[in-house]
Amino acid sequence: MTGLSDSFQRPIDYLRISVTDRCNLRCIYCMPAEGINLLSHEDILSYEEIHQITVAAADLGIKKVRITGGEPLVRIGLSSLIRMLSQIEAIDDIALTTNGTLLSQYADELKAAGLRRVNISLDTLKPDKFKLITRGGDLDSVLEGIEAAGAAGLNPIKINMVVMAGINDDELIDFANKTINEGWHVRFIEHMPFNREMASSSFLSVNEMRERLASLGALEPCTFKGNGPAKYYRLPQAQGTIGFITPVSEHFCFRCNRLRLTADGKLRPCLLSEQEIDLRQPLRQGISDEELKRLIKKAAESKPRQHNLARGSVPQDRPFSQVGG
Ligand code: 5AD
Ligand code: SF4
Repeated sequence: MTGLSDSFQRPIDYLRISVTDRCNLRCIYCMPAEGINLLSHEDILSYEEIHQITVAAADLGIKKVRITGGEPLVRIGLSSLIRMLSQIEAIDDIALTTNGTLLSQYADELKAAGLRRVNISLDTLKPDKFKLITRGGDLDSVLEGIEAAGAAGLNPIKINMVVMAGINDDELIDFANKTINEGWHVRFIEHMPFNREMASSSFLSVNEMRERLASLGALEPCTFKGNGPAKYYRLPQAQGTIGFITPVSEHFCFRCNRLRLTADGKLRPCLLSEQEIDLRQPLRQGISDEELKRLIKKAAESKPRQHNLARGSVPQDRPFSQVGG
C-alpha cells in the first residue's frame, strides 16, 4: 500500500464526512436565516453507504475520519455509524465536529461507540450574544455539552471560535483565559466570507488577534495533536493551548490532506471549489468496490492546488452548512 495522494504529491489520509445538512442552530456565518433547501431522506447517504465508502477510502490510505454536518448529532442513531466506522481496522482516529448542544445527551454513548474526540464550535460566552450569533440558541446547552464530553473522556476537547470583528472579538481574552483557568484548547478561526449578508468589515486577521492577546503574555509555540492546519501556542501557566487557523490571511493548501464527503454522497476535493464527484448514484447502481476506489482516487487526483479566497473567490453552490467546515 503506497497511500493516496493528489497530483501535487500531497498525501491524502483524512476524510471529513458530513452526515446531514440539517442543524438545530442557524449561525449567521454558516446558514442563511431562511429559504434554505434541505435534502430529503432519500437524498442522503445511509449509514451503510457511508460505511462502504469509508471502507474503500481506508483501503486506499485514509486513516482519519471526522464526522461533521450541519449538526451531526441531529441525525438519529449517529453512535451506530461511529460504531461501524470504528470497526474499520485502518481507521485509527474518529472525531466529531459539533455545536455541542446535544452532547450532554450523547457523549457517553458516542464514547462507548468508539469516538475519540470532539471539536465544539462556540463563538461567545455571553448568553445574549449566543442567541444573536446562532439565531436563537441556548448557550447553557453547549456549556453542559462541554462538561459532558470531558466527563465522558472525549479528550482533548477543542473549542472552535470563529472570530468576527464587531461581533465577538471583544471576547478573545475571555476565551484565551479559558486555556489557563479551565484547560480548554481554544482555536481562533479567521472568518471566511461565505455569507454575503455579512459585512466584510467583520474580518479580523490572526495577526490582529495576536496583538489583542499580547497583554496576556508571550505565546510559546507548542505541538498539539491534530490533523489540521492550526498552529498552536501556550500562554504562561496554561494547561490548554491556543490554536490559530488562517484560511484567509495565510492559506495552508500546500499541506492539505483531506477529502470531504457531503451528506448527499458527493466527494468534494476542496472545501472552496465547487467541483464534486458523485458517489451516490454509482453506489445505488451497485458498482464494485474497485470502481468505487477508482472514483475516490479520481477525486484525490483532482484536488486543486489552492483556493482563491484572498481574491474574493467563494463557492456559491451550497451553503457552508452543507459542506461541514
Ligand atoms: N468561516 C470560518 N469558519 C467557519 N465555520 C463555519 N462557517 C465558517 C466561516 N464562514 C466553522 C464553524 C465550525 C466548523 C464546522 O466550521 O465554526 O467550527
Ligand atoms: Fe449549525 Fe455549526 Fe452551521 Fe452553526 S456553524 S449553523 S452550529 S452547522
